[in-house]
Amino acid sequence: MALPGPAFYDQAAVFESYMQHRAQAAAPNNTMEGPLLRELLGDVQGQDVLDLGCGAGGFGSELLADGAASYLGVDGSANMVAQARKQLQSDTRAQVVQADLQTWPMPAARFSRVTARLVLHYLPALEPLLQAVHAALRPGGRLVFSVEHPVITCCDRAWRGQGLRQEWIVDDYFRTGERETDWIGSRVRKYHRTVEDHFLALQACGFMVESLREGRPERARFQDDADFERRQRIPLFLVMAAHKAPASAEAPAG
Ligand SMILES: C[S@@+](CC[C@H](N)C(=O)[O-])C[C@H]1O[C@@H](n2cnc3c(N)ncnc32)[C@H](O)[C@@H]1O
Repeated sequence: MALPGPAFYDQAAVFESYMQHRAQAAAPNNTMEGPLLRELLGDVQGQDVLDLGCGAGGFGSELLADGAASYLGVDGSANMVAQARKQLQSDTRAQVVQADLQTWPMPAARFSRVTARLVLHYLPALEPLLQAVHAALRPGGRLVFSVEHPVITCCDRAWRGQGLRQEWIVDDYFRTGERETDWIGSRVRKYHRTVEDHFLALQACGFMVESLREGRPERARFQDDADFERRQRIPLFLVMAAHKAPASAEAPAG
């Protein structure tokens, strides 16, 4: 049976393998997704950051070390929240809340930056969350998120060959919705959306889209030639940045 995101990560063996996977320097999160998301997020000095699906708190530490004024992480997994609280306990600017993002009452007009790394594809609906994020941002505030790339989420047929995956199937691309996938020893439920779905959902929720990127691998971030060559075959991530109109733009004309 496929589990939703938080319950999936609350399995002890899954959590352990996830933490091991993320700690590897060559993990795609460290070579492609993280650096790109950080580039789009830009300087966080003095920013009040809300991190949706914060996971184990590593990103929170990074943002606070880079001068964020405050950091609120929210995650539905008890394992992730316990780890994030441990990771951030010595920093009075940090708070971590355990909640389901589908029901968590997001405080209005509180944040200048909202991040969501690799969590939105666990949510059945994007627009209710994006509307809440828009309301949670102050005027001019920015949202930066990453998701598994839609060419990956569209088709859930697992690689049955030997060793590292060498073939990918892009199929059922426009049949959006629920998918079940085997990953790190268990079955997880995710939701597939097209690239344009993300773009249009941002616009429908009042955001100005700033950037759409696909995690193109950069040679300097890879220690291994073969890994770099393989990562040029298919995009793993979609990373987008958008902002809420600044206060002056919200004032009625005339
Ligand atoms: C792939 S992990 C990414 C964690 C972190 N953002 C990172 O990049 O290191 C996805 C996270 O999303 C969380 N998550 C998934 N669905 C959620 C939901 N409905 N409410 C809250 N958290 C959720 C999971 O518990 C998990 O910690």
